[in-house]
Amino acid sequence: MKRGHAGSSFLAATLLLGGAAPAQQLSVVDSPHNLSASGPGSIRASSEQQVCIFCHAPHNTSPIRPLWNRTMPVDAYSIYTSRSLDAEPGQPTGMSKMCLSCHDGTIAIGAVFSRQNPIPMSGGVSTMPMGPGLLGTDLRDDHPISFVYDSSLAAADPKLRNPATLPHEIQLDSNGEMQCTTCHDAHNNAFGSFLVMDNIGSALCVECHQMGATNVQAHQDCASCHVSHGSPSGPYLLDRQTIGETCLNCHDGSHPQAPNVASQFSLPSNHETFSEVDPAPPASQHASCADCHEPHTMTRMHTQAPLTPGNFGQIDGVGASGTPLLVAENEYEVCFKCHADTNAVMPIVTRLAQQNNTRLEFDPSAISFHPIETPGRNADVPSLKPNWSTQDLVRCSDCHAVNGSNPGNGAAGPVHGSVYGPLLADSYSTFDYTSESPQAYALCYSCHDRNSILSNRSFSEHRKHIVEERTSCATCHDAHGISSLQGSSTGNSHLINFDTSVVLPNSQGRLEFRDTGIFSGTCNLRCHGENHRGESYP
Ligand code: HEC
Ligand code: HEC
Ligand code: HEC
Ligand code: HEC
Ligand code: HEC
Ligand code: HEC
Ligand code: HEC
Ligand code: HEC
Ligand code: HEC
Ligand code: HEC
Ligand code: HEC
Repeated sequence: MKRGHAGSSFLAATLLLGGAAPAQQLSVVDSPHNLSASGPGSIRASSEQQVCIFCHAPHNTSPIRPLWNRTMPVDAYSIYTSRSLDAEPGQPTGMSKMCLSCHDGTIAIGAVFSRQNPIPMSGGVSTMPMGPGLLGTDLRDDHPISFVYDSSLAAADPKLRNPATLPHEIQLDSNGEMQCTTCHDAHNNAFGSFLVMDNIGSALCVECHQMGATNVQAHQDCASCHVSHGSPSGPYLLDRQTIGETCLNCHDGSHPQAPNVASQFSLPSNHETFSEVDPAPPASQHASCADCHEPHTMTRMHTQAPLTPGNFGQIDGVGASGTPLLVAENEYEVCFKCHADTNAVMPIVTRLAQQNNTRLEFDPSAISFHPIETPGRNADVPSLKPNWSTQDLVRCSDCHAVNGSNPGNGAAGPVHGSVYGPLLADSYSTFDYTSESPQAYALCYSCHDRNSILSNRSFSEHRKHIVEERTSCATCHDAHGISSLQGSSTGNSHLINFDTSVVLPNSQGRLEFRDTGIFSGTCNLRCHGENHRGESYP
């Protein structure tokens, strides 16, 4: 059923013939829309007794139905927009303009066609005063209106329901457009806020939006994070200015059941830029909660590496081959959105084979790599602790997580922030002349046994270099991998990729490692003043 013609003739009948419209009259009378002197709200006339007159004329003064008694505001609105919006809202039309003739604050509430002068309001109120009733002419912070909501829009966005299935309470206008009156009924305040139906449990929102399911109970109400009007974020209508603030509103210790993660985002190395919502591309220059946790679908479920943790929900990603994915299956695919082809974070160690694209570093075709996507290349890794094997996969979040998250235990930690840069789960010194200690290389020693390394079970000169020469693991080893586009299978096996600020060419101008078989190799380089010319081990 569409509103309009039948209604206006009914209105004409009730208003012109002086007939009663008991149902409407009752509910308008009791509501903030009774602006007569007897109205219940603080905004009311000083002496005017008629209730309907603020909106409807007793005879047809305005060509706009239903017997509209007000000037329509001019089209000077700023319109809601976001990068994910498929709808195309334009300047407000139809019934929305009727509402805005009071709620945008440009026209005096008492200004009606059927009176020469505006109806005087008590307290000298003229236009809509500051407060929740004032939407203003900037509608960028309000739910979008005045666009066609049809089945093709729903087809373009799988998270929208087909409007053909809307219940009778929720109506589009005769042009199929969504208006203020789709959600509100100016006459009926039975559900509060003049809503067309009860919005308890977000019942109204989910008639149109199907965002997916979350088993995190506190996240099930849209109003936990969204507002319908006056949103401080603009795009996505969040109840705070940024995504981070929206989430930390509860996750800062103020909500008894919500894990408190707020302090992790003020650690020196962290993942929340508190940048404006919906930033301009490239997306990789900003990081926020919703880049890893899809707010509407996260579950409380633990998963095995390399899978995405349950609390990432149906998050998007970039696949191992570089193609965008609607839903990431593996954690690394989430990181590849920002740290692969469009990485904005520069390497902290300058290496012989410089690579900023982690997708290439961890690719199964890479020369050597920590096993993120597929098991690693080396079958002989004697230092691995008993709970690790050469068939195991690790997650980025095994190494990059909040400090204190016990990286060697195989359970991913929150990639939120750390006292150890670059966002490392435990301490790791990349500096030359670091005195060896359990703490200095704690990150590596969480999976690799310190005694094994220092007793030279693989590289017969480990102890000499690490303890006596105080050389960091990072001087010889790349913690990620060496891409197949760089280096060579003999020169960059075992994650060997020298730090060129420490390791220099030898007197012959050569700087290279050569793998000559299991636990044997040769080096040509200069380091700590020592010239290696074909220096071999064991
Ligand atoms: C605050 C403004 C406002 C007030 C006050 C108001 N109305 Fe309305 N009325 C509207 C708007 C807007 C529409 C068109 C949108 C709609 O149909 O919901 C409308 C539509 C109508 C319609 C026709 C549409 C329909 O089918 O419901 C009737 C009849 C009506 N009003 C009666 C009344 C009566 C009687 C009063 C006084 C008791 C009254 N209204 C007071 C805003 C108002
Ligand atoms: C004649 C002026 C006028 C028109 C037209 C008008 N309103 Fe209002 N509306 C008001 C006033 C005044 C208030 C009270 C604001 C306050 O108390 O701060 C109000 C309050 C509201 C509220 C808040 C109710 C509550 O429970 O606090 C909603 C929602 C609302 N209007 C929606 C609408 C919609 C939707 C339309 C169009 C269908 C509309 N209004 C048209 C004047 C108007
Ligand atoms: C998609 C549904 C939807 C649309 C469209 C919509 N509103 Fe609302 N509006 C709501 C909900 C829900 C609330 C109650 C908000 C709350 O309780 O936090 C609300 C509240 C309000 C309020 C009360 C102030 C407040 O912030 O609580 C006013 C005034 C209002 N709406 C006016 C309008 C006007 C005018 C339009 C058209 C320009 C409009 N609304 C369009 C859903 C909508
Ligand atoms: C009558 C249907 C309807 C109702 C009810 C409704 N919405 Fe919407 N909403 C839409 C449509 C259609 C869009 C446009 C979506 C698009 O183009 O991607 C939209 C857009 C949005 C957007 C902006 C999306 C973007 O991509 O920028 C948010 C946020 C939103 N709605 C939240 C809500 C919330 C919260 C409620 C409940 C208070 C609600 N909606 C009620 C139909 C509805
Ligand atoms: C836990 C907080 C939270 C809850 C609860 C929540 N949202 Fe959102 N929503 C967000 C955030 C944050 C974004 C922005 C996402 C982004 O930037 O990727 C968003 C984006 C959206 C969008 C636009 C983007 C898209 O995916 O289409 C719509 C529409 C939306 N939400 C509707 C809803 C509805 C409807 C509900 C209730 C059923 C709801 N949201 C509940 C936090 C939440
Ligand atoms: C209204 C308060 C509230 C807001 C806002 C909120 N959360 Fe939550 N969140 C909770 C509560 C409470 C829990 C614990 C739920 C439980 O115990 O079932 C939770 C659980 C979580 C979990 C799961 C933790 C686990 O155990 O795995 C994640 C992840 C999370 N929230 C992220 C977010 C993100 C991201 C946002 C913003 C988009 C957000 N939350 C907004 C209250 C909130
Ligand atoms: C770069 C990705 C990333 C970003 C950005 C991110 N998180 Fe997380 N978060 C994770 C990972 C990984 C985990 C651990 C997953 C698991 O439970 O196995 C996690 C866990 C959580 C948990 C559960 C912690 C606990 O102790 O149970 C909460 C709550 C949470 N995140 C909230 C947030 C909030 C709020 C933001 C934004 C301020 C945010 N996250 C930003 C990756 C991220
Ligand atoms: C949406 C983009 C985005 C996603 C997704 C993302 N990051 Fe980041 N990451 C960034 C940005 C931007 C920075 C720089 C932050 C800064 O400087 O404040 C960063 C910084 C880092 C740093 C270095 C911190 C430092 O202090 O130098 C590490 C390590 C990191 N991210 C790892 C990850 C891992 C692991 C994942 C996947 C779980 C991930 N990131 C997902 C954008 C992202
Ligand atoms: C085995 C531990 C480990 C794993 C697994 C790991 N990283 Fe790292 N990452 C490090 C270390 C250590 C550094 C410090 C730089 C270095 O040693 O070369 C680092 C540095 C970084 C940086 C800072 C820029 C740079 O290159 O210096 C980013 C961004 C980063 N890692 C992202 C990731 C992503 C994304 C993943 C998963 C796809 C990942 N890391 C997996 C240990 C790891
Ligand atoms: C979360 C556990 C974990 C952490 C932390 C970790 N590693 Fe590993 N590492 C592994 C696994 C598993 C393998 C076995 C891969 C294989 O079989 O090729 C491995 C293999 C290696 C190899 C041999 C690679 C090859 O191809 O021969 C080197 C070298 C290495 N790690 C160095 C380090 C350094 C340096 C650190 C600290 C920055 C570190 N690892 C931190 C799990 C870890
Ligand atoms: C001077 C260069 C150098 C330094 C410094 C160094 N390594 Fe190595 N590492 C090697 C070489 C060369 C190999 C390859 C041995 C072979 O298999 O031929 C190796 C092999 C490894 C392996 C794989 C075999 C095994 O033992 O399990 C691990 C793990 C490893 N190193 C960890 C570390 C850690 C942790 C540190 C720092 C505490 C470190 N390395 C410091 C050169 C170095």
